[in-house]
Amino acid sequence: MSLHQIMYISTVVGTVTPQECAEVAQLSAVNNQRDDVTGLLLFNSRRFLQVLEGPRDAVERIFARIYDDPRHRAVVKLREGTIETREFGQWTMAYDDPARPSNSLKDKVAALLERAGPSTRAHFIGSADLHRSAAR
Ligand SMILES: Cc1cc2nc3c(=O)[nH]c(=O)nc-3n(C[C@H](O)[C@H](O)[C@H](O)COP(=O)(O)O)c2cc1C
Repeated sequence: MSLHQIMYISTVVGTVTPQECAEVAQLSAVNNQRDDVTGLLLFNSRRFLQVLEGPRDAVERIFARIYDDPRHRAVVKLREGTIETREFGQWTMAYDDPARPSNSLKDKVAALLERAGPSTRAHFIGSADLHRSAAR
């Protein structure tokens, strides 16, 4: 079966702490492993950006579950389609804060934000700048 990838952005409902988000990613990793799905979840305290990749049915089933999750709203697919190879093959669900990318994910996060397009990128980079000016 061909490999399928979905990238989406969404807005958090209420507040989700980075810890809670990391917990979602951990549970997701367990679920996704079962379905041979890999990916990356970014969270900047306001928005989620996630990539899911794997067998098409599994990716669509998981996305349908995520779409209905009341912890976020305004879920918008940014890209969807067949892929030749996995980009996040080593992670069942890597989690990262785009303002402070971990060394192992830095390049992946930068490439992902690049591909997500300028307005999505601004949501994440813009908030990183806000974090910085708030810290001054
Ligand atoms: C931003 C976000 C990303 C999520 N990513 C995944 C995921 O990759 N895999 C997954 O199984 N659940 C993910 N979830 C959780 C699902 O929405 C759902 O709560 C979970 O799959 C459990 O579903 P169930 O209660 O029907 O078993 C995510 C939730 C949110 C808010």
